[in-house]
Amino acid sequence: MKKNIGVIWGDCSSPEIVREALRILNKIALKYDHEFVYTDIAMGGEAIDKYGEPLPEHELEKCLNSDSVLLGAIGGPKWEGMPGHLRPEKGLLKLRSKMKLYSNLRPAKIWPQLQDASPLKKSIVEKGIDFVIVRELIGGVYFGNHETNEVNGQLVAKDTMSYSEEEIYRIGRIGFETAMKRNKKLCMVDKANVLDTSRLWRKVMDELKKEYPEVMYSTMFVDNAAMQICKDPSQFDVIVTENMFGDILSDEASEITGSIGMIASSSLGKGSCGLYEPIHGSAPDIAGKNIVNPIACILSAAMMLRYSFDMADEADDIENAVSMALDQGYRTADIMTEGMKLVSTSEMGDAILKNI
Ligand code: IPM
Ligand code: MN
Repeated sequence: MKKNIGVIWGDCSSPEIVREALRILNKIALKYDHEFVYTDIAMGGEAIDKYGEPLPEHELEKCLNSDSVLLGAIGGPKWEGMPGHLRPEKGLLKLRSKMKLYSNLRPAKIWPQLQDASPLKKSIVEKGIDFVIVRELIGGVYFGNHETNEVNGQLVAKDTMSYSEEEIYRIGRIGFETAMKRNKKLCMVDKANVLDTSRLWRKVMDELKKEYPEVMYSTMFVDNAAMQICKDPSQFDVIVTENMFGDILSDEASEITGSIGMIASSSLGKGSCGLYEPIHGSAPDIAGKNIVNPIACILSAAMMLRYSFDMADEADDIENAVSMALDQGYRTADIMTEGMKLVSTSEMGDAILKNI
């Protein structure tokens, strides 16, 4: 099968992990007789440097014309002082919005080989960690009005959060559908004791749940959810939530699995063209050292094969190869524990490649 893949190399240490993901994809193409054609796309800091803005129209066009887009991570200290519209993150938000990627899946699953790398107590980890956060990605406070005005001699900043019923329906449905494919448990996380938007989420979800009688549906306040994720993560199967709560909880969820460097994500809208990226940032502090963990990016490539290209065997192959590399004791610094083999970014890539 021929597929056009947009590749956003990203900033700081990101190109180091994207390189490994592409080596893996090339091996998969050979083994399964596919043709992957890559188009380099500048977005984030790289695009600011090259074109003076984080996602110029011509680069956005390339994304929209791809069968799917693979992204490393963007941003870094170099661009931190920039005004809001000229920050690398703005490019990512524009991309998500223009590609209409409302549904962001962030799995939090502990690899049995990495149980010792989790910061949680053994007794908690042993109960199992295997859930998915379904994060609404193109609404809420991220996409409301942002303004700062001077009022009575001082600056006042305002960010507006809004959700329409339709926006909630479409992501709520993804939550239920995801639960149906897993263990049929869905928890909606909100702040309905304070926010109107949350109360609307509850109303819409209460309607939707009638269509999914098999799913055990519950709700939880976000502050409690943050606590429950580290107290007893085994209680969760699927969590569905709005944009910002999902952002925050997914970092927490990833860390309890051992390392944020292990977690991939998919962002999809109506069609099959998606955006696949690790949930971690561009790790500027370790850029250029060949020590960053490439696994989240490699697993993001696997997710792309599974969800956008319908290549389940190929995706399984990559995931098994990662698991085998962990079995063989290979560890990048972030997941290193006693007695294991400390390897660089490219050596981890080599180890995974060999297992395909
Ligand atoms: C993420 C990131 C982004 C977000 C930033 C870079 C805008 O933290 O993908 O989780 O907040 O969505
Ligand atoms: Mn985040």
